[in-house]
Amino acid sequence: MSDWTTLASTDELQPGDRKAEFINDEPVLLVRVDDNYLCIADACSHDGQPLGDGPITGEDITCSRHGARFNLATGDALCMPATEPIATYVVRVTDGQVQARPGGTGATTTTSSDSSPADTGTGTGTGTSTDTGTPATTTDSAAPEAGSSSGTDDGVQASAMLEALREVIDPELMVNIVDLGLIYDVRQDGDDVVSVDMTLTSPACPAGPQLVQQSKMALERLEGITEANINLVMTPPWTPERMTDDARDKLGIF
Ligand code: FES
Repeated sequence: MSDWTTLASTDELQPGDRKAEFINDEPVLLVRVDDNYLCIADACSHDGQPLGDGPITGEDITCSRHGARFNLATGDALCMPATEPIATYVVRVTDGQVQARPGGTGATTTTSSDSSPADTGTGTGTGTSTDTGTPATTTDSAAPEAGSSSGTDDGVQASAMLEALREVIDPELMVNIVDLGLIYDVRQDGDDVVSVDMTLTSPACPAGPQLVQQSKMALERLEGITEANINLVMTPPWTPERMTDDARDKLGIF
């Protein structure tokens, strides 16, 4: 018996279209990207929710729940809160039918006019890398060292600011934003004015406004600070390498 499952006919999907289907009772999502068909497990590795309604940009799909992003071709998790890849499927086009089966790298579509096209999977599995391809500029734990930021020697010290920022907890990951590596810089701009450069695990992070507001409030509760400016920066992009060992332990990442 063939282990290929027909998911759609070729005239069914236009570039950018998607279709939710099942293979061996597992939900999958077939996406047409230009002239390629890519097929992934329709379950976010963050907490198993469907990915199917998430926005697609190029070969990436973003989970509409909490903003994790995955590469449709490799299944790689590209940003938090997901850290594990999702399964991809080998896809072939034969006799006007788009078919898929488990166990490939996914970034492959073979068009064949007969019923026995070559297996298009060229990789070794369903994707195990979480490399974002964008190395962090900081290789150590991301939390800035106390006192390392300029302008904090007088007045409120960087260590006190970081301690205050540790009270701000990412609601999805339940880890404070300092240990997550979201704080890029803390500095004192005036006698009672401080600034913080912070990032998010994903530009689409729905908790962003809340984290910014809570950071501002946490700092302005400190004695000697009347104004805290929180600058949201996306460069360099956050990567899991920025987390402290404590954060990794809490999230079960080794
Ligand atoms: S369920 Fe997908 S990011 Fe949380």
